[in-house]
Amino acid sequence: MPEGGSIVAKELVKVYGGKVRAVEGVSFEVPPGEIFGFLGPNGAGKTTTVSMLSAGLRPTSGQAIVDGIEVGRDPEAVKRRIGVIFQEATADGDLSGRENLEIAAGCYGISRSESRLRAKELIDQMQLADAADRLAKTYSGGMRRRLELAVGLVHRPRILFLDEPTLGLDPQGRAGFWSFIQKLRQENGMTVFVTTHYLDEADGMCERIAIIDHGKIVILGTPTELKDKVGGDVVTIKTSSETPDVTNVLKAIPGVSSIQRKETAYRVKCANGETFVPLAVGSVTKAGVGVAGVTVKRPSLDEVFLEFTGREFREEEGPTATDRAVMMGRVRDNFARRR
Ligand SMILES: Nc1ncnc2c1ncn2[C@@H]1O[C@H](COP(=O)(O)OP(=O)(O)OP(=O)(O)O)[C@@H](O)[C@H]1O
Ligand SMILES: [Mg+2]
Repeated sequence: MPEGGSIVAKELVKVYGGKVRAVEGVSFEVPPGEIFGFLGPNGAGKTTTVSMLSAGLRPTSGQAIVDGIEVGRDPEAVKRRIGVIFQEATADGDLSGRENLEIAAGCYGISRSESRLRAKELIDQMQLADAADRLAKTYSGGMRRRLELAVGLVHRPRILFLDEPTLGLDPQGRAGFWSFIQKLRQENGMTVFVTTHYLDEADGMCERIAIIDHGKIVILGTPTELKDKVGGDVVTIKTSSETPDVTNVLKAIPGVSSIQRKETAYRVKCANGETFVPLAVGSVTKAGVGVAGVTVKRPSLDEVFLEFTGREFREEEGPTATDRAVMMGRVRDNFARRR
């Protein structure tokens, strides 16, 4: 099996109909074998970027270079090297899952016997064996999604573009999908470019992540680098009584950047939770108040997403950034399903 290839975007711009500035100068490089995540709110320009990179859409300006080939110069050569799985369904509902796969393989010039072998392998891997010979239109949403993924992989691409591949899959389906992608990557070093709204997924699976908003990349780095940008940990200290107020006692500890108090709970943003906690417990106790409980929270990608896409990170009680991101995801999923 071949090694993965690289993906390069150089100042990519897409203006639809002379007015909608969907992508405004996006640049990045994905080395062979990397899983690169592309995150951003609805309408940020993710699908437009994937389309330009995968020879589906001509950029207004800038260059897309895939596996060393400039996409505009030789789109057909690029298409042979890549697999693309789009947001919307592409499999033919009036064919069975197996037929969809065998026909797709034939389109890539793969022999009939080899096509049959690959179809069977993918059907097994995507856990579609029971439904393989039923018409695809009778599949559930998740089964159809898995079939789409299988179709995109049938020619064993070196580079895979995935536009929200796990949208609508249940947790088991998502886990199964990712373990299959990991396996493929380990076997042949496939490069993967993936857009997703599931931040936990991006955090666990992507080596690097770019967040795009209003057509521009606002931040790019490893998940750890991105989380470090949000700055520090959040430590919540619960005291055994409301008086005395220990806000100033906590504020005096090095590395503390902000404190919010609600009754006996102090929510402290600090550079490093581990070094802060023992100092805080010592100071609070010395001030004559007992410590009833301590929690330390590292920032998640949700915080990064909210911070860098211009949404406010609320410090007060109520739904956490994570809760809100999950809610947003659900609303989006429901909306997408209805469409
Ligand atoms: N064919 C088109 N004609 C005109 N405008 C378009 C077209 N396709 C997309 N747009 C606009 O370009 C912008 C970026 O759209 P795009 O589909 O790339 O966003 P996205 O990040 O993939 O969003 P989502 O998370 O909803 O999939 C949006 O404002 C969208 O309305
Ligand atoms: Mg999209």
